Amino acid sequence: MIASRALYERACRAIPGGVNSPVRSLRVVGGTPVAFMEGKGAYLRSIDGAEYVDFVMAWGALILGHAHERVQEAVCSGLRKGTHYGALTLGEVELAEKLCEAIPSMEMVRLVNSGTEATMSAVRLARAYTGRDMIVKFEGCYHGHADSFLVRRGADGDIYGVPSSPGVPKSISTFTVVVPYNDPLALRRAFETNKGKVAAVIMEPVAGNMGVVPPERDFLEEVANLTAAEGALLICDEVITGFRLEFGSCSRSLGLEPDLVCLGKSVGGGLPLAAYGGKREIMGTVAPSGEVYQAGTSAGNNASVTAALATLEVLSDTDPYPRLERLGAMLEKGLCGLASETGLPLAVNRVGSMLSLFFTENVVKDLAGAQASRHDLYARFFHMMLQNGIYIPPSPLEAWFISGDVCVAAKRRSAPWPLPWKDGRRREVRVDHGSLCSGCGKGSRHGTIPGNLSAGSGDNPAGRREQEGHRDNLPQKKEERSLRG
Ligand SMILES: Cc1ncc(COP(=O)(O)O)c(C=O)c1O
Repeated sequence: MIASRALYERACRAIPGGVNSPVRSLRVVGGTPVAFMEGKGAYLRSIDGAEYVDFVMAWGALILGHAHERVQEAVCSGLRKGTHYGALTLGEVELAEKLCEAIPSMEMVRLVNSGTEATMSAVRLARAYTGRDMIVKFEGCYHGHADSFLVRRGADGDIYGVPSSPGVPKSISTFTVVVPYNDPLALRRAFETNKGKVAAVIMEPVAGNMGVVPPERDFLEEVANLTAAEGALLICDEVITGFRLEFGSCSRSLGLEPDLVCLGKSVGGGLPLAAYGGKREIMGTVAPSGEVYQAGTSAGNNASVTAALATLEVLSDTDPYPRLERLGAMLEKGLCGLASETGLPLAVNRVGSMLSLFFTENVVKDLAGAQASRHDLYARFFHMMLQNGIYIPPSPLEAWFISGDVCVAAKRRSAPWPLPWKDGRRREVRVDHGSLCSGCGKGSRHGTIPGNLSAGSGDNPAGRREQEGHRDNLPQKKEERSLRG
């Protein structure tokens, strides 16, 4: 980590906190961020020469893994024709058509550059369309860093938001009502006290920003019923879940009919691209066809659009979702085995290829539950995993993501990820873990879960590989194929 540490120190002199997005700084778990220089498939290589199995996957943006050949080739050949014209292109129209085809509730879509732009624009649109100002958001859901979202409940549990960041005007935060996730009663009360004022409910249909928290059935039903009954729009923020849990949006599989859907991350194949879209009647009010202003210099640029088209093509051709579900189940089983072996309190929340590990014996169904878990144990676990060549999110409140550099032939359009409540109860925890990424052809050098959390780890395969000079050890094609298994 010598090179990473030196780079981080240098970064701290030029970039606030040494990083371009706060979570990358490892504040929650402590220590120095690892600096990376190469990624391939499910692997990352640091500037210190150590290799890691990557379960962060650029915070969910890389559903196909690092440097996917088809995406890379498409982007490189597209770039030869220029990066961006700032004008109408065939690619952006094709992408818009494909997104609308994949998501039935999306009749029209606008491309933007980041998830924040998508959610912020969707909220503006909802306010303009309904003529109302209030929005409802759920505690623990993250929708980007626009002023309306950087709010939390007041100290006395008041549902009217107070700024969660300096610089957010108090007056703006009071237009956001904050309600606990999975709490239908609180949602009902919020609507009752703001009758006729709520423009929209914005939600992550499967929460991924307090760790992974699946929605409960009665909660989803109340969201659907109340928005419909009260004339508020439902904005499903699928910046994480869109094309991650299934091809398109997961809202429909959950029984929701969103008025607007926001996309990002997976859709862009690792390049900056996001989108918001919905019913024609609503989207038709966006400028220039309507009055609701929203614009973007880099929107629809060639590189991002080409990456998105290639990503959607690979996802559609290979349908990786059943395999991602299997890999997710395997990872979950391995982690649950850790609980049985160590006797530590541990809860694993998973939906498809999104997963979180909480050191608690309670069921985690909202932010309070996630925050009550043992962050100190997670921090130790993070560093032990890092030493064992596994890169997981540096916070228990971030989701782990599995990539699917896979080639499965059969196409499937229904949701392949059973929710815990599908069979009415939580899955039972079983021992019998072993290797997190068995079949990778690297034996125990990658992905073995450390067996004894409390003992600390003297073993450091990542560092050892560095000493042994395995600098060219990123998996070659043959090994990648075995990973696809
Ligand atoms: C659900 C959700 N919405 C919106 C955003 C904001 O996206 P971006 O970071 O691209 O602005 C994020 C980012 O993590 C997210 O997870």
